[in-house]
Amino acid sequence: MARFPTLFSPFRLGGIEVSNRIVFTAHHTHLSGDVPNDDLVAYYESRAAGGAGLIVVEVAGVHSSARFSSDFIQADSDECIPGYRRIAQACHHHGCPVLGQLYHPGRETRGKVDGVTPVAWAPSALPGERHHVMPRAMSGRLIKEVVEGYGTAAARVTVAGLDGV
Ligand SMILES: Cc1cc2nc3c(=O)[nH]c(=O)nc-3n(C[C@H](O)[C@H](O)[C@H](O)COP(=O)(O)O)c2cc1C
Repeated sequence: MARFPTLFSPFRLGGIEVSNRIVFTAHHTHLSGDVPNDDLVAYYESRAAGGAGLIVVEVAGVHSSARFSSDFIQADSDECIPGYRRIAQACHHHGCPVLGQLYHPGRETRGKVDGVTPVAWAPSALPGERHHVMPRAMSGRLIKEVVEGYGTAAARVTVAGLDGV
């Protein structure tokens, strides 16, 4: 404690009151299907019960072209709202605020557990350095849809009761 004197003191992050400095950063658990399920709710609730000050829920796709790998939340339809709501309620019960995280993988796709690699969509048909996947070039219309997808997905996460995105 002498080395971390503020670890258990509260702070404000924007409009959010966080009770300590322990932040649970987003990571893909592979627990979920397209919508947050019982396992995912239990996973985040146990971190909140364990004393995390703030939880960032793993990435969620903002558009049907946002397919990175297997077992990702898709926030591109209202079907994600009830599951997100359960995560928010479960964590709030322990006094822990929750943020969502939204993404589009661009050219950073990977093989799924069923052996299929999702089609990668990126602004240009240039392969990524990490997974070496050759993407298809997005049309201007698709880019516009993805931009709009960030907005509508953020609205869903907010409607579900999370504290931010
Ligand atoms: C399996 C795994 C999945 C991850 N998924 C995400 C993610 O969905 N979003 C994100 O922002 N970071 C993700 N990360 C990064 C972590 O949030 C964290 O920043 C990183 O692991 C460094 O922290 P550490 O040194 O405590 O592991 C992931 C990391 C791992 C190991």
